[in-house]
Amino acid sequence: MRVLTGIQASGKLHLGNYFGAMKPMVALQEEHELFTFIANYHSLSSSKDAQTLKQYTIDAAIDYLSLGIDPNKTTFWIQSDVPQVLELYWILSKLTPMGLLERAHSYKDKVAKGIPASHALFSYPVLMAADILLLDTQKVPVGKDQIQHVEMTRDIAIKFNNEFGEIFILPEYMVQEEVATIPGIDGQKMSKSYGNAIDLFLEEKELQKRCNKIISSSTPLGEPLEWKEDHIYALCTLFLDDVQKIELQERFKSGKEGYGHFKKYLKELIWDELGEAREKRAYYLSHTDEVQDILKEGAKKSAIIALAKMEQVKAVIGL
Ligand code: ADP
Ligand code: TRP
Repeated sequence: MRVLTGIQASGKLHLGNYFGAMKPMVALQEEHELFTFIANYHSLSSSKDAQTLKQYTIDAAIDYLSLGIDPNKTTFWIQSDVPQVLELYWILSKLTPMGLLERAHSYKDKVAKGIPASHALFSYPVLMAADILLLDTQKVPVGKDQIQHVEMTRDIAIKFNNEFGEIFILPEYMVQEEVATIPGIDGQKMSKSYGNAIDLFLEEKELQKRCNKIISSSTPLGEPLEWKEDHIYALCTLFLDDVQKIELQERFKSGKEGYGHFKKYLKELIWDELGEAREKRAYYLSHTDEVQDILKEGAKKSAIIALAKMEQVKAVIGL
């Protein structure tokens, strides 16, 4: 089964990204033929400047490789290294009714958030359709907010196939198993835009400081602590199995430990979980040539499929 997904590189990653997006994605490579790219053409529509876009792109590549994308199993590249996707984007644009794009809620949401309304932002579902169709994708793992884009991709592919013959595979979305919303240090949804995130690759001391900032109730030391609504407890459980969760509940209820102990425990859990990733990251940060080689190799592999597809497409449309 060919599974494809694009990564929007947007700076430092946090625990919410890790549990909500990266871990489930990395797991897919064990069972599927996974194609993953850093969507830098997409990022262009909201990028500040060249340096930031470049930096975010390479940082995202390093982070994903560190967190488990295995280049021996997964084809991993930077979108703009396979520029055939833009050729297909234009061809698909011809078949995309304005009404279809006008109904896309992500465009409206982004404009509402203050991103300047541009043609690129408006037509980005067509570029996403090109990403997906170019490589004969069968399944697209997405969060709920992206389902509409995969449906639009199908609509465009159906229209193309009706007019020109069976060229494109109709992709299906895979909604990632509902991951609970990970709370930030204030208990709201963890998000880089709310300033409540715990970043993945902090130094140990910084990580402890961040954990210390988690808001908890003011139960005095020596009294049992309520675990049910507690954000520290909620974050700890991300790393624990059922037996360990019960043990932690008992520790909260015993009254022998205060919040400080649990904040230390949480820091240890995060630190241990990311030990291997940290080592790999340190390696890749000092071997960026190797990262570039992996990405170039991935681009080569996906270009083979892309070029063959474009040949088919061009033949049927008369280019
Ligand atoms: P942010 O809210 O920090 O800007 P993004 O919107 O860039 O995060 O999220 C990227 C991916 O990470 C999303 O697809 C989402 O699945 C996941 N994600 C982000 N925050 C959380 C969270 N608090 N809980 C669960 N998943 C999250
Ligand atoms: N639009 C997706 C997002 O914002 C990223 C993306 C671009 C993508 N192209 C894709 C996802 C193709 C899946 C398939 O998260």
